[in-house]
Amino acid sequence: MKWFRSSPSLAALIALRASLSAAFYLPGVAPTDYNEGDLVPLNVNRLTPAIQASSQQVQSLISYDYYHEYFHFCQPEGGPQKISESLGSILFGDRILTSPFELRMGKNETCKLLCQSKHDKRSARFTNMRIWQGYNLNWLIDGLPAATLTSQIGDESNQFYSQGFSLGGFVNDGKTQPKPIINNHYDIIVDYHRIPGRKDRSFRVVGVVVQPSSRHQKVSGGDKKTADCGNEDPMLLSEEGNTDITYTYSVIWMESPTAWATRWDKYLHVFDPRIHWFSLVNSAIIVVFLTGMVSMVLLKTLRKDIARYNQLDLNEDVQEDSGWKLVHGDVFRPPKNPMLLSIFLGSGAQIFFMTGVTILFALLGFLSPSGRGSLATAMIIFYTLLGFVGGYTSARVYKSFGGESWRKNILFTPIFIPGVVFGTFFFLNFFLIWKGSSGAVPLWTMIALVCIWFVISLPLSFAGSWFGFRAPAFEAPVRTNQIPRQIPEQALYLKPLPSMLLVGILPFGAIFVELYFIMSSIWFHRVYYMFGFLFVCYGIMIITCSTVTILMIYFLLCSENYHWHWRAFFISGASAFYVILNAFIYWLSKLSLGGLASNVLYLGYSLLIGFLFFILTGTIGFFSSWVFVRKIYASIKID
Ligand SMILES: *[C@@H]1O[C@H](CO)[C@@H](O)[C@H](O)[C@H]1NC(C)=O
Repeated sequence: MKWFRSSPSLAALIALRASLSAAFYLPGVAPTDYNEGDLVPLNVNRLTPAIQASSQQVQSLISYDYYHEYFHFCQPEGGPQKISESLGSILFGDRILTSPFELRMGKNETCKLLCQSKHDKRSARFTNMRIWQGYNLNWLIDGLPAATLTSQIGDESNQFYSQGFSLGGFVNDGKTQPKPIINNHYDIIVDYHRIPGRKDRSFRVVGVVVQPSSRHQKVSGGDKKTADCGNEDPMLLSEEGNTDITYTYSVIWMESPTAWATRWDKYLHVFDPRIHWFSLVNSAIIVVFLTGMVSMVLLKTLRKDIARYNQLDLNEDVQEDSGWKLVHGDVFRPPKNPMLLSIFLGSGAQIFFMTGVTILFALLGFLSPSGRGSLATAMIIFYTLLGFVGGYTSARVYKSFGGESWRKNILFTPIFIPGVVFGTFFFLNFFLIWKGSSGAVPLWTMIALVCIWFVISLPLSFAGSWFGFRAPAFEAPVRTNQIPRQIPEQALYLKPLPSMLLVGILPFGAIFVELYFIMSSIWFHRVYYMFGFLFVCYGIMIITCSTVTILMIYFLLCSENYHWHWRAFFISGASAFYVILNAFIYWLSKLSLGGLASNVLYLGYSLLIGFLFFILTGTIGFFSSWVFVRKIYASIKID
């Protein structure tokens, strides 16, 4: 069961992985060994909104820099330094900086004075607001996120880590309104592992929990100040005047049997893996059942159809013909707007392979959670490299549709979808800049992205198109008539909208549970690491998409409607409609976002994800239908 979460079961894969990672350590994957007394770096990341305990909702999507001017957190001497990060990590909002905390391996500390700072009215108001919204502090100690120890309600024995710890809390005396208090003392509990039998550099960090608290501390002494952490009164930030805050921390080192290799396990805890398993098995059974049934019925009917058609030809009794054979002279008529369809299909193929390859890499354990943002980085790299596939697919499909304006096709394939994505991204970024959020992507990263696209993706796509246009077109197995046939009145369920709603729900059903986990990892900043599940889910989704689309296209052709190209794309892509609907319901139930910016961000990103999902599923539906249509018409005799 464990491989489902992190690494594959196959011994061969493990061997492959081991040999590869021995050859070149992936960033963030190599352990750091310490001697006793060595400085262990504590870096700070942005502040993120977390789920509010009282309402179980998230109230904001805006993250803030740790050293935002209004927080007045203690800074290291000489100002904080940036820690270099991967592209994906920056895109996903990490802003990692150095801090003044001094952690020495194996040296316990009690009540160490960090600094004193002054909050004026404005910053007090700002900070109190963030406490109301339940913001979390995110620290990284030896690359490991500082966590809060959580346990499931009713199951106290089963404790696990959740990333981050709270900026503040509330005092509630029962008489007045609850008041926000700021956490200014941190108990940092670091688990370390001692490598047995090693003399030198034998210590490794394997777990970090921070228990923050709010204390009205006194500072004494002249030159060498010392703090007294005995006072348990909470620290309130006054919105009427200035407040002085003293920040202190204690460090407790605990020896732990946890090995370095498994130090992430506690973070990757699935709330209840049984639910996950249950739903996965559930959808797998439904899909296998459905696919089996559909293919059997379809095969049987088709075999009968084909036998009948071929027999009828011999008897020259063609008048009695009915069903899909009738449209043989029209079914390969190129669709309307072949340019747009082929561009969609090219991009769809690119997204399809990118997703597949990324999940596979993650499944093999190449994208470890300690390499922050490695997932996003991998996606960008694969998408860029797969520009070739996009160009090739688009060109070849366009050629097969008899398209003439090949220059336009070559140019627009790599521009259209990335343009939409980048445009949305750019637009949403303005909202983050406006809010002074640290999540805003820096200009340099934007320029880097454009450069990657321009220098690598564009030429690769052009090359792909060149090969695509040189490859032979897919010839139709039957001749297309000069004059299009009349299409008879269609049954209700075959009309565009009903057929979309009917077909779209099944692929969505296959990924529904996984989607929930992915969404909470995106919006609640949980670590997502269930690539085994995701891999199976992706497979199930592909099978469902193709089976239901083929079935619907069969019905469509039987009712003598031969406009199947766009229809196949749309009915399969309609699952994106449910994805967006789901995001919308999530918005209403799990989030209560205050402010325009958070709402625009949420809806904007949901629509963008929905759009990409539409292209992806539409492409799967189209290609499976194409194969199907070609197969069945190739197997009948036409005079
Ligand atoms: C630090 O303090 C804790 C609790 O007081 C204790 O259990 C632990 O052994 C100490 N660690 C070291 C390295 O002395």
